[in-house]
This record gives sequence, structure tokens and C-alpha cells, in this order.
Amino acid sequence: MCGIFGYVGQRPAAPIILDGLRALEYRGYDSAGVYVAGSGVVKATGPVDIVASLVPKTWTGTSGIGHTRWATHGPPTERNAHPHSDMSDSLWIVHNGIIENYQALKEGLLMQGVQFSSDTDTEVLAKLIGSLYRGDVREAVLAALSLVEGAYGIAVMSEHDPYRLVVARQGSPLVIGLGTGENFVASDAAPLLIHTKDVVYLTDGEVAVIDRQSYSITNRAGKAHTRLPERIEWSVETLQKNGYAHFMEKEIFEAPSVVENTIRGRLLLERGRAKLGGIEAHLPHLASLERLLIVGCGSAYYAGQVGRIMLEEYGGLPVEVELGSEFRYKRIFAHDKTAVLAITQSGETADTLTSVRRAKEAGLLTLGIVNVVGSTIARETDAGIYNHAGPEVAVASTKAFISQLTALALLTLAVARERGLSLQDGQAIAQGLQELPAALQTVLDRAAEIKAIAATYATYRDAMFIGRKLHAPIAYEGALKLKEVTYLHAEAYAGGELKHGSIALLDPSFPVVALAPRDAVYEKMISNIEEVRARQAPVFAIGTAGDHDLSRVANDVFLVPSVHPLLQPIVTVLPLQLFAYYVGVARGLNVDRPRNLAKSVTVE
Ligand code: G6P
Repeated sequence: MCGIFGYVGQRPAAPIILDGLRALEYRGYDSAGVYVAGSGVVKATGPVDIVASLVPKTWTGTSGIGHTRWATHGPPTERNAHPHSDMSDSLWIVHNGIIENYQALKEGLLMQGVQFSSDTDTEVLAKLIGSLYRGDVREAVLAALSLVEGAYGIAVMSEHDPYRLVVARQGSPLVIGLGTGENFVASDAAPLLIHTKDVVYLTDGEVAVIDRQSYSITNRAGKAHTRLPERIEWSVETLQKNGYAHFMEKEIFEAPSVVENTIRGRLLLERGRAKLGGIEAHLPHLASLERLLIVGCGSAYYAGQVGRIMLEEYGGLPVEVELGSEFRYKRIFAHDKTAVLAITQSGETADTLTSVRRAKEAGLLTLGIVNVVGSTIARETDAGIYNHAGPEVAVASTKAFISQLTALALLTLAVARERGLSLQDGQAIAQGLQELPAALQTVLDRAAEIKAIAATYATYRDAMFIGRKLHAPIAYEGALKLKEVTYLHAEAYAGGELKHGSIALLDPSFPVVALAPRDAVYEKMISNIEEVRARQAPVFAIGTAGDHDLSRVANDVFLVPSVHPLLQPIVTVLPLQLFAYYVGVARGLNVDRPRNLAKSVTVE
């Protein structure tokens, strides 16, 4: 969370930095600010566009830094917005992360007579660097960082040395972009794409000095690290709305192509197998596991819950799923028959990353299902599966979730076939995966039906989502989507659990969204819907094609194509994503940037 963008070059810096910040806004949008050497500083609460409107056209400086904030220390006011400066207002810093010992550092600086004008931990770091500055910014940064505890990605620039950008990383990502006669730094690769595809990823503990022509990387002790640039594959178009009203809408409508990209080259139809290059070397070990621990946060956690049932039912592999924020504090039992699988779109979520590190320390094999190539978790896991879903811009995860489920189905196929799943059953799953994009397209072609249903449900204040087995986690994901983008109260339960308490909430003003595909628990689900109907709660049911019975128990029905049972949740979640999107739009909200949220949660 929080986005950093820095530039040293020959073009006016302000528009470049502001565009970079706009592309990073999904990381936080409480406030923003920009410093351009030789020109000035502008900060404001709210989105980057407000700062942009305040930047004078006369700014011609060709280097600077900018920041878009997700507040941790202090409210999102202008005085807390970055960049922050040292005592002389000549050294400026932007920061992503949390300085844990900022209070102690602040007290030391206060005793030296340093005055503060914000509530932030970042200003403490700025003043600390300033107090240690003896004419070389890099030396001052190294000296300050030796006193700091916590997580940071920082970019520092001095008015006295405006063509040298000093950046450092510990826990919060930073990527250097290499241009011609100009260089960049950003919190992730996406905003660099319009300038360059050649990037250098910093790793934890590294400090880099970037000027117009070159970059040099060292560790915090000053020892040089050599790192060759890498090439990013994503295209610029993936970062544009391409005619859609919102990124969320665009990303939901990308579902068929996302699945195509996730399965491309990975299905062996005749052999009923999945070929996953990233984990192939570990497949014999995976097949011999006694337990898999899946970790993730938010939607990735719910994807993990679906994955658990896939792997248990079809692969006979016992699986546990943990929230990253809990797993990291859990006692880990070292066991060579246990592995950890981290699921993460960004590859940067702090709690998931720490879980991976703890698992590694305990000697467990670590795997990842990661979307962002080159991200920290992609690098730090022993092996993994890339989603190839392309960048996801809307804060609420949609296409990445669908891709995560698809990757989990591929993993299930690969592991299950090693663990005794028959050729015929394997072929059926592979064939089902092949046909999945067409099934998803069928749902999208009827999005207007969901829009009409959403218009009705947008008038309620609450919603309850229910589902069973593979569809219980989908109910939770549906409720999460609705909460995130509509601010309505939504909760989810496994259908059979409702009567143990939460059914007390239901009345004619409390609708229920029920997932009732024709699967092994269909009859049980119908009973649960009847229980709900008996309390006069309105019901919106999602079932599978050909089900003419559902309309007898539900007020509104949407039927999705029936696919292989393992893959059904991948199709069934799509109307729930559309439902949340249309309710959010009907309520006039900024669905791409819900309040209080950020896409990449790099604080613990
Ligand atoms: C944030 C996002 C969620 C996402 C979660 C995990 O909370 O708003 O949409 O599911 O982080 O992110 P990750 O990048 O690890 O998948």
C-alpha cells in the first residue's frame, strides 16, 4: 500500500510523476503529493487529480518524487501527505511501509530541537536522514536506515543533488525502470510500462542510487550488488479501461481470456494431465505430501478454500487453509511431507509474505500461485504457478480470483493424476478447463439480466450469501465483493450453518443470495433456501442451466452453464462479481476505489 514514483531525466518531471501516481492509485488514495527539484512541492488530500490540478504549469524541473498514500500513522490530511522534508526543507522523502521504532527516534530528534509538522513515521525518517546529512544523501540514508526498525520502500532526493535519486527497500517493493537518458523508480512495474519494459527489481536490504544514465545497487553496508535488467511482458493496453466504465467491469469481462491465458500450454488433453513448468520438478514430492497448507488474504484466502476442496476431493490430499495474518503467528511443525502454498495476486501482501518466510525457516517446501511476475513472493517461494491474468487494477479482485481458481484446478489435476486419479477422470477435468472460457462468455453475454436483478437488491441494506461444499467459499467471496464495492452489510454462511444462529437476522428486508448449482448437495441447498423462504426473506438464487425448479423457491433466478463439477465455482462466482459491480454502480459509488481499501496490502 502507498505508491511511490520517482523520475530523473530530461523531460519536465511533474506530468510523468503524476501519471505514474495515477497508475499506482490502487495502492492507496487517501492523499497524494509531489516534489520536483528546483520547482516545488504540492500535497493534497484525496486523489492524485487534485494534486495535479494544483501543480503550477511553470514547473520545469526534470527530476522529482511523488506519493499516493494509504494512511497508517495519522489521518489522511494534507499535513500528513508525503513527501516529507528534513529541517532545511531541502531533502525530500516518500515512504511506503511502517517505521516501527519511530516514536523512540522522534523523541531523540525532539531532544536535539528538531520540530515536526505531521503525525507520520515518515517525517521522523526524513528528519533523521536530514540530521545525518553531511553532503552525501546516500551516506545519510545508509546511516539512518541502520537505526530504523520496520518496513519501508523509500525514495529520497535532495535539492543540492537533484539528479541523484536514492532509494531503499526493506519489505515494501521498489522497481527501477531504465529509459534512455532517463530512469524511473516505482512501487511496481505497471506505471513504468508506458516508458520502458526494462526493469530492475530491488530486493530487501538493498539501496540504489539512480541518475539519468545509470543505477548502482548495494546492500546497507555499502557492498555492491550486480543485477541485470529484466523485461516485463505486460502490454500497456491492459492498464487502460478500453471503453469500459470501470476497471472492475473490464476485468470481470476479461474472465474468458484470463482463463485462456492461465491454461495456455498447460493442458495435456489426451493424457488427462496438466503440465505446469514452474512446479514440474517438485511434482513427485507434491504427490507424496501428507498435508498442504494454503495461505492467503482476502479473496486469495477464499480461493484457497475452494482449492482445499478440489485437492481433497480429487487429489486425496489433506489441505488446511489459513489466513496469512494468522498463519504467520502459528506454531509451524517442520515435516518433509508438508508444503505451503501461498496464493496472492500482487505477490507483495505482507502477511502472506511473512507466512512464506516462516514456512521456509521451518524447512517446508513453499509454492506460490502468483499473478505479478517478479514480485517478492514469486521470487521467494521455491516454485510456483504464474496466473498470467495480466494486471488487475480495480481494488476488488475479480479476474485474479477466477484465475486463482483456474490455477488451483490445474494444480489439482497435476497432483491428482500423480496420486491415482484415473485417465478418464483426468481427461474430463482437462476437457472441462478447455471449455471453461466459452461457459464464462455465456454468463457475460447475459450481464444485463444481473444488472436488472442488482437494481432490485441495491435498495436493501443487508444481504446474506449461502452455499455448500465448493460453493461455500464462493458465498463468502460473493459477500466480500458486495461489502467492498457497495458498503452494504453482507455476510456469508455455509448453507447448513445458517439455522445455528444467523437465520435470526432474516426477515422480508434481509435478502439471501443462494448458490444452488445441481451438484451433490443440491437437495440440501434447496432445503436451506426453503428455510430462508419460510422467514419471508427475498431470495436470489444462482443455479445451473435447465433447472426449472429453482424459480419455485426463489424470487430471482440466474442460471449459469453446467460445467465439470470441479470447475463449477469458477462459473458461479462470475454472476456474483457482476452483482456486486452493478449494485455498487446503482448506489453511485466509485467501485474501482472503495473507501478505506488498498489493493496491495504491504503493511502487517
Ligand atoms: C487486498 C485486496 C483484496 C485481495 C487481498 C489479497 O485486501 O483489496 O482484493 O484479495 O488484498 O491480495 P493479494 O495480492 O495477496 O492477492
